[in-house]
Amino acid sequence: MLIRRLKCLRYLGTRHNSSHYVTTPIFYVNAAPHIGHLYSAVIADAHCRYQRLRNPEKDVRLCTGTDEHGTKIQQAAALHGIPVPKYCDDISERYREVFRSASIQTEDFIRTTEERHKRAVAHFWRTLHGRGHIYSAAYSGWYCVSDETFLTDSQLRLDESTGSRYSLESGHPVEWTEETNYMFRLSQFQDDVRHWVKQKARIRPAKFEKILLDSLSEPLPDVSVSRPSNRVHWAIPVPDDDTQTVYVWLDALVNYLSSVGYPNEGYTANWPPAQQVIGKDILKFHGIYWPAFLLAAGLEPPGQLFVHSHWTVDGQKMSKSRHNVVDPFQAARQYTMEGLRYFLLREGVAHSDGNYSHVKAQRILNSELADTLGNLLSRACAKSLNPGQIYPSANAEHLADLLRSLDAAKRLQDSLLQLSERCASHYECNHFHLVADTAMAALHAANNFFESSKPWTLKAGAPDANPPRLETIIAMTMDALRLCGIVLQPIIPQLATRLLDKLSIPTAQRGWNHLAHSLATSPASLGGSRQLDGQTSALLFQRILEEKVVKEQDEKEQQKPQPAKRSKSKKKERRETMS
Ligand code: MSP
Repeated sequence: MLIRRLKCLRYLGTRHNSSHYVTTPIFYVNAAPHIGHLYSAVIADAHCRYQRLRNPEKDVRLCTGTDEHGTKIQQAAALHGIPVPKYCDDISERYREVFRSASIQTEDFIRTTEERHKRAVAHFWRTLHGRGHIYSAAYSGWYCVSDETFLTDSQLRLDESTGSRYSLESGHPVEWTEETNYMFRLSQFQDDVRHWVKQKARIRPAKFEKILLDSLSEPLPDVSVSRPSNRVHWAIPVPDDDTQTVYVWLDALVNYLSSVGYPNEGYTANWPPAQQVIGKDILKFHGIYWPAFLLAAGLEPPGQLFVHSHWTVDGQKMSKSRHNVVDPFQAARQYTMEGLRYFLLREGVAHSDGNYSHVKAQRILNSELADTLGNLLSRACAKSLNPGQIYPSANAEHLADLLRSLDAAKRLQDSLLQLSERCASHYECNHFHLVADTAMAALHAANNFFESSKPWTLKAGAPDANPPRLETIIAMTMDALRLCGIVLQPIIPQLATRLLDKLSIPTAQRGWNHLAHSLATSPASLGGSRQLDGQTSALLFQRILEEKVVKEQDEKEQQKPQPAKRSKSKKKERRETMS
């Protein structure tokens, strides 16, 4: 039965392989966006940008949005004294703004308060109900409003002194709840879900597949999929029973269907998602509930779940009470949004938590974007060496001689020859840090080559003046910059565009297939020289000055509640630690 169900669903999936549908989680509107939220979106965006570069014929579609129902949204709005719909509008708009300014290129931004979504949820509910997967029952248990989930005894911590219970995983308080609910027969999908999880590369990184399989080794209980309307009224009503509202996680998960037009005809062209990016805290909902809901509705579950770990700040969990939540706009004032994107993808690895620190961000961005990449472009475009402001063509004899006589030239050639294949294999696994690593290694080789070939000794007027050799050196350097610019487009789209603009690379020549043509692969096949773009500055990324970081940190410190007495000023303390 199970195999037949999956085979049949797989058949449906194979019809639509020109679509590559990717999603981010939809974000709760109970608080403003922070860099952790941006991280989910940046991973999905870099993944999609790579897919578009690599497979221009594919219909790549990225969807994001906001999750706006439930008690915690109601409570947040009440706390701010703002009507709930207005509160949702405001915070949802802030997510849009962050994503716009971080160049997250989405095909859709969905809000769960939209009519199209409510229709999809109602249809999905009726399908589950009609197929006999939902029943009504009295239910009691510990409910965690912050996590919007019921928890079992083993998932709780009891504080002996107060008698209060908390979620072991998130630390949030729970409350005892007794009510009549609709239940979903999750227990019947244990084998189906396990089978789905075990498919090759279904859950990545593999460590999260193991976590899911461990959870699936215990019998799955049925789950409550509704709440009484008098308790949770800011939610979608259960079809044909307005005494109940749909459980927020069922509501939220269906966004992935609403965004592609479910249940209207044509949504199957984009179904199932090729990849769904999620944070580790929402693995259970996406790795167990979601495939079970979909299978129960007769729909194919997603191709892959890509799970990322969390950002901590100076080693601590980000939280409002610790006053250490990093606002992406504030970070962008220090590093620019492109700098922030680069840092998140360069420093973050999906399988383990990453630590966000200003000092680290400053060091990485200065050394990689300002020095290794930016400085090389400035040097190659310097008027003293490149008075005609051109991307020169290489002289075949000098090129051959440089490759023969200069180790650094050979090393650069080797590095560029491997660039495309290595980066492609890293992109395929969303290993963005390794793409950045590989590109930086190539740029280091290019800097080394530039330095070792001493182009300044060859310029007109110098005793060893040799314009064709000088142009060949600049051509090789610019070629390295061009290739790295193409490769880095998914990670730093705006900076890469400026770099390629400066080099006057036509838009049609920025695709992945253009990595195949270079001085490293086919020295003879390159065309004549071209004029650099005079409108675009050769100053790609400005070094971040220490004072700027320190000043921003001090402003933040001043906003925190101050301890009664301090032995040293914070500023002094930090300078000592930094030095
Ligand atoms: N609304 C649910 C998701 C519903 S999807 C059908 C939700 N929202 S959230 O706003 O709390 O989180 C959205 C995403 O941000 C999740 O992927 C979560 O893991 C991620 N992050 C939240 N804090 C984070 C960090 N500190 N670090 C990295 N990502 C984190 O959950």
